[in-house]
Amino acid sequence: MSHSATLPDPDLALTFVVNGKQEEVRVPVQATLLDVLRERLHLTGTKKGCDHGQCGACTVHVNGQTHLSCLTLALSCEGREVTTIEGLAPAGGGLHPMQAAFIEHDAFQCGYCTPGQIMSAVACVEQARAGDADAIREFMSGNLCRCAAYPQIVAAIQDVAGTSDQGAGADQ
Ligand code: FES
Ligand code: FES
Repeated sequence: MSHSATLPDPDLALTFVVNGKQEEVRVPVQATLLDVLRERLHLTGTKKGCDHGQCGACTVHVNGQTHLSCLTLALSCEGREVTTIEGLAPAGGGLHPMQAAFIEHDAFQCGYCTPGQIMSAVACVEQARAGDADAIREFMSGNLCRCAAYPQIVAAIQDVAGTSDQGAGADQ
Protein backbone atom coordinates (compact mmCIF):
# COMPACT_ATOMS: atom_id res chain seq x y z
CA MET A 1 0.00 0.00 0.00
CA SER A 2 1.45 3.33 -1.00
CA HIS A 3 1.41 6.43 1.14
CA SER A 4 1.13 9.51 -1.08
CA ALA A 5 0.67 12.05 1.74
CA THR A 6 3.61 14.42 2.00
CA LEU A 7 5.40 14.29 5.30
CA PRO A 8 5.72 17.67 6.99
CA ASP A 9 9.10 19.26 6.56
CA PRO A 10 11.21 18.96 9.66
CA ASP A 11 11.97 22.21 11.41
CA LEU A 12 15.45 23.53 10.83
CA ALA A 13 17.69 25.55 13.12
CA LEU A 14 17.92 29.28 12.52
CA THR A 15 20.45 31.43 14.34
CA PHE A 16 20.33 35.15 13.79
CA VAL A 17 20.45 38.45 15.63
CA VAL A 18 17.16 40.25 16.20
CA ASN A 19 17.21 43.74 17.68
CA GLY A 20 20.73 43.16 18.95
CA LYS A 21 19.96 39.85 20.63
CA GLN A 22 21.16 36.46 19.44
CA GLU A 23 18.19 34.20 18.75
CA GLU A 24 18.08 30.47 18.04
CA VAL A 25 14.78 29.02 16.86
CA ARG A 26 13.64 26.00 14.89
CA VAL A 27 11.47 26.92 11.96
CA PRO A 28 9.75 25.14 9.07
CA VAL A 29 11.77 25.43 5.90
CA GLN A 30 9.01 27.45 4.23
CA ALA A 31 8.43 29.86 7.15
CA THR A 32 8.56 33.55 6.37
CA LEU A 33 10.58 35.96 8.44
CA LEU A 34 7.30 37.76 9.23
CA ASP A 35 5.70 34.68 10.77
CA VAL A 36 8.83 33.77 12.73
CA LEU A 37 9.10 37.29 14.14
CA ARG A 38 5.45 37.41 15.14
CA GLU A 39 4.71 33.84 16.15
CA ARG A 40 8.03 32.47 17.43
CA LEU A 41 9.67 35.60 18.82
CA HIS A 42 6.40 37.39 19.72
CA LEU A 43 7.56 40.60 18.06
CA THR A 44 4.12 41.66 16.86
CA GLY A 45 5.05 45.26 16.04
CA THR A 46 5.75 44.12 12.48
CA LYS A 47 2.36 43.89 10.81
CA LYS A 48 0.87 41.44 8.33
CA GLY A 49 -1.16 43.44 5.87
CA CYS A 50 -1.42 41.66 2.52
CA ASP A 51 1.14 38.84 3.08
CA HIS A 52 1.90 39.15 -0.64
CA GLY A 53 4.50 41.91 -0.95
CA GLN A 54 2.03 44.59 -1.87
CA CYS A 55 1.58 46.87 1.14
CA GLY A 56 4.86 47.35 3.05
CA ALA A 57 3.30 46.82 6.49
CA CYS A 58 5.81 44.03 7.19
CA THR A 59 8.95 46.07 6.41
CA VAL A 60 11.99 45.32 8.59
CA HIS A 61 15.72 45.83 8.18
CA VAL A 62 18.01 42.90 7.38
CA ASN A 63 21.68 43.86 7.61
CA GLY A 64 20.59 47.49 7.38
CA GLN A 65 18.50 47.14 4.21
CA THR A 66 14.70 47.21 4.04
CA HIS A 67 13.09 43.85 3.41
CA LEU A 68 9.46 42.80 3.09
CA SER A 69 9.42 40.15 5.77
CA CYS A 70 6.36 38.45 4.26
CA LEU A 71 8.44 37.65 1.17
CA THR A 72 11.64 36.75 3.03
CA LEU A 73 12.30 33.15 3.96
CA ALA A 74 13.29 33.08 7.60
CA LEU A 75 16.13 30.65 6.91
CA SER A 76 17.67 33.13 4.47
CA CYS A 77 18.40 35.30 7.52
CA GLU A 78 20.82 32.78 9.01
CA GLY A 79 23.71 34.75 10.57
CA ARG A 80 22.15 38.09 9.68
CA GLU A 81 21.03 41.04 11.75
CA VAL A 82 17.34 41.86 11.73
CA THR A 83 15.89 45.06 13.16
CA THR A 84 12.17 45.47 13.77
CA ILE A 85 10.20 48.43 15.05
CA GLU A 86 10.74 47.11 18.59
CA GLY A 87 14.51 47.50 18.16
CA LEU A 88 14.55 51.01 16.77
CA ALA A 89 14.44 53.06 19.95
CA PRO A 90 17.73 53.73 21.76
CA ALA A 91 18.63 51.15 24.42
CA GLY A 92 18.64 53.82 27.10
CA GLY A 93 14.98 54.65 26.53
CA GLY A 94 13.07 57.28 24.61
CA LEU A 95 12.06 57.21 20.99
CA HIS A 96 14.00 57.04 17.76
CA PRO A 97 13.90 60.50 16.12
CA MET A 98 11.69 59.12 13.34
CA GLN A 99 9.17 57.77 15.86
CA ALA A 100 9.11 61.18 17.56
CA ALA A 101 8.67 62.93 14.21
CA PHE A 102 5.72 60.70 13.27
CA ILE A 103 4.02 61.73 16.51
CA GLU A 104 4.93 65.38 16.05
CA HIS A 105 3.51 65.45 12.51
CA ASP A 106 0.44 63.26 13.15
CA ALA A 107 1.75 60.84 10.54
CA PHE A 108 -0.74 58.07 11.30
CA GLN A 109 -4.39 57.47 12.05
CA CYS A 110 -5.17 53.78 12.69
CA GLY A 111 -1.45 53.04 12.96
CA TYR A 112 -1.52 49.66 11.21
CA CYS A 113 0.91 50.69 8.50
CA THR A 114 3.06 52.77 10.84
CA PRO A 115 5.76 50.26 11.90
CA GLY A 116 6.50 49.50 8.25
CA GLN A 117 6.36 53.18 7.33
CA ILE A 118 8.84 54.06 10.06
CA MET A 119 11.27 51.27 9.12
CA SER A 120 11.23 52.47 5.51
CA ALA A 121 11.45 56.10 6.60
CA VAL A 122 14.57 55.42 8.66
CA ALA A 123 16.18 53.68 5.68
CA CYS A 124 15.15 56.57 3.43
CA VAL A 125 17.13 59.03 5.56
CA GLU A 126 20.06 56.67 6.24
CA GLN A 127 20.46 56.00 2.51
CA ALA A 128 20.36 59.74 1.71
CA ARG A 129 17.18 59.36 -0.35
CA ALA A 130 15.27 62.10 1.47
CA GLY A 131 16.60 65.10 -0.43
CA ASP A 132 13.16 66.44 -1.29
CA ALA A 133 9.50 65.46 -1.11
CA ASP A 134 9.53 63.79 -4.54
CA ALA A 135 12.52 61.62 -3.63
CA ILE A 136 10.84 60.64 -0.37
CA ARG A 137 7.60 59.74 -2.12
CA GLU A 138 9.53 57.60 -4.60
CA PHE A 139 11.44 55.76 -1.85
CA MET A 140 8.31 55.26 0.24
CA SER A 141 6.09 54.20 -2.65
CA GLY A 142 5.97 50.57 -1.50
CA ASN A 143 4.42 51.50 1.85
CA LEU A 144 0.69 51.94 1.52
CA CYS A 145 -1.49 53.79 4.01
CA ARG A 146 -5.22 53.24 3.80
CA CYS A 147 -5.73 56.24 6.09
CA ALA A 148 -3.90 58.42 3.53
CA ALA A 149 -1.48 59.98 5.99
CA TYR A 150 1.01 60.44 3.15
CA PRO A 151 1.55 64.23 3.45
CA GLN A 152 2.26 63.94 7.16
CA ILE A 153 4.60 60.98 6.62
CA VAL A 154 6.61 62.97 4.07
CA ALA A 155 6.71 65.93 6.47
CA ALA A 156 7.99 63.73 9.30
CA ILE A 157 10.76 62.31 7.11
CA GLN A 158 11.76 65.75 5.88
CA ASP A 159 11.89 66.92 9.48
CA VAL A 160 14.33 64.15 10.46
CA ALA A 161 16.34 64.57 7.26
CA GLY A 162 16.53 68.34 7.75
CA THR A 163 15.03 68.94 4.32
CA SER A 164 11.70 70.42 5.39
CA ASP A 165 10.14 72.90 3.03
CA GLN A 166 6.83 74.72 2.92
CA GLY A 167 3.93 72.53 1.87
CA ALA A 168 5.98 69.33 1.70
CA GLY A 169 3.79 66.50 0.46
CA ALA A 170 0.73 68.73 0.19
CA ASP A 171 -0.02 67.47 -3.30
CA GLN A 172 -0.34 63.82 -2.28
FE1 FES B 1 4.28 42.14 3.46
FE2 FES B 1 2.02 43.41 2.81
S1 FES B 1 2.40 42.11 4.52
S2 FES B 1 4.00 43.58 1.87
FE1 FES C 1 -3.99 53.66 8.98
FE2 FES C 1 -1.73 54.08 7.64
S1 FES C 1 -2.36 55.01 9.49
S2 FES C 1 -3.19 52.54 7.28
